[in-house]
Amino acid sequence: MNASGDQSEYHDGTMTDRKALNLSRRDAVKAGVFLAAAAGLPLARRAAAETAYPNRLAESRLPKPFTLAFRRLPVAEALPFNGVEDRFDITMSMFQAELIPGYQTTLFGYNRSVPGPTIRAVAGRRTKVRMTNLLPATHPYLNYAVTTSTHLHGFPSLPQYDGYASDLTKPGETKDYVYDRPVAGRTMWYHDHAHHHTAENVYMGLAGQYHVIDPIDEALPLPAGEYDVAIMLGDAMFQADGNLLFSYDDDSGHWGDVNMVNGVPWPVMKVARRKYRFRICSGAVARSYQLSLDNGAPMIVIGTDSGLMPAPVSTTSLRTSSGERYEVVIDFAKYAAGTKIVMRNSSPKNNVNFTHSSKVMMFEVTSDSFDSSNNSVPDVLRPDNSAMLALESSSAATRIIQTKRQGGEWTINGHTWADVEASNYTLTEAKPREGTNEIWTFVNDHGGWFHPMHLHLVEFRVLSRNGKPPRPYERGPKDTVYVGENEVVRVLAHFEGSGRYMIHCHNVIHEDHDMMSQFEVLPAHGAAPNPFSAAAIPIAQAGSL
Ligand code: C2O
Ligand code: CU
Ligand code: CU
Repeated sequence: MNASGDQSEYHDGTMTDRKALNLSRRDAVKAGVFLAAAAGLPLARRAAAETAYPNRLAESRLPKPFTLAFRRLPVAEALPFNGVEDRFDITMSMFQAELIPGYQTTLFGYNRSVPGPTIRAVAGRRTKVRMTNLLPATHPYLNYAVTTSTHLHGFPSLPQYDGYASDLTKPGETKDYVYDRPVAGRTMWYHDHAHHHTAENVYMGLAGQYHVIDPIDEALPLPAGEYDVAIMLGDAMFQADGNLLFSYDDDSGHWGDVNMVNGVPWPVMKVARRKYRFRICSGAVARSYQLSLDNGAPMIVIGTDSGLMPAPVSTTSLRTSSGERYEVVIDFAKYAAGTKIVMRNSSPKNNVNFTHSSKVMMFEVTSDSFDSSNNSVPDVLRPDNSAMLALESSSAATRIIQTKRQGGEWTINGHTWADVEASNYTLTEAKPREGTNEIWTFVNDHGGWFHPMHLHLVEFRVLSRNGKPPRPYERGPKDTVYVGENEVVRVLAHFEGSGRYMIHCHNVIHEDHDMMSQFEVLPAHGAAPNPFSAAAIPIAQAGSL
């Protein structure tokens, strides 16, 4: 069963879903045993996947793919610049919105938007984000105690501003996050990171993009302004009453039957006959994607997790998983008005798929007039990124990161975040020295699952995957890497800054149960900041921002 979309040498588009097999849901349930065997999955996991959602909103109630309009994410408004820092005031709250026409869905959002408003920061300028938690004390139907910790994924935040999973903000409390290290332009995302409930909090809507804009990027003739478009991917499943349905699938993940783009099911986006830059970030709980355009046209990858690539890479198929970012340019110039192009997902293996999982969004080319400036992709983008230039021979140490399922839990080198807590936060997987480079080797010796592995703080270069070079489009600075089935993936990371930072799988259900540990970067001099040194305070005690 090969996927149709991926003709690359990397054959990871296996589709074991019931659509590919042409099964109805009932047949699929009966065929669960067969599917499990076929996919090499643990039986319990596959069986749970097929039966865990008795209260699911019927497919007939869902909008037809490509009938709802694409939505641009709102941009967060900064307070007037005070000469020192840009300030953003963000409130987390619960509200309802109509995601599925005719239904109200209860959500958690940043400034009442799901996904959250895009924060645009200027490279080199200090930025402060006040995060105020006005969420209910307990989740309205999952019944856990709601706390938050906000992580800016992709930024070398100081430990106390990094969204340390146990540095919690309770409802009624607020915390100012300060981001003041200089970084090159990049597409990041901010999302909740509260221990044990990251998956639920992110799924409920606590995720948004965060862009650092820098002059080097802006000087390039890449699509800009309205042709520079943020894309948040995700998947959802709904209950009969319109609320989100959450299945844990034996803690393997949660896969929805609705593909969401910027909070809209399978939207259609009208595009002018020119190039667009899409900043694609996957905030899915567990799903990974193999993206392609249904007419076989290329996507020009210009950026990876930590910013622009050294040079653009053209691909017709792009694999991405939770936490990764890829920036791609798609050129619609050669199409007649009215042309429709579908962005497809020929699912990587070990995802659970449904009738329309292979569809993501549609582009519809218009005859509208457009601004034709900034309409090209230069051959050289950012050749001087230090993470990309670092040599393997510069590595001061090699660390092995073993991913394992054991005792019903996901672990890192046999450790969980509960172990880190039990050690009073002293347990670490490694203690690299500030200013050094190290090779980190991620090992997944199982065929039944993949892990998007993420290191906080650092940028890295992917060195190899099972001894072979990484995919061409992965050859940019990254902080999250797809560690596929039976794969050993080596990266070269540069450790700048000091203190304790998390390392985890970005399948957020794996992360919560409990595939997260930490490393400690030893300071070159002085003491490293403590992750708990800027605790949240009651709202009433907070001064003006
Ligand atoms: Cu995207 Cu530790 O997070
Ligand atoms: Cu992160
Ligand atoms: Cu994982």
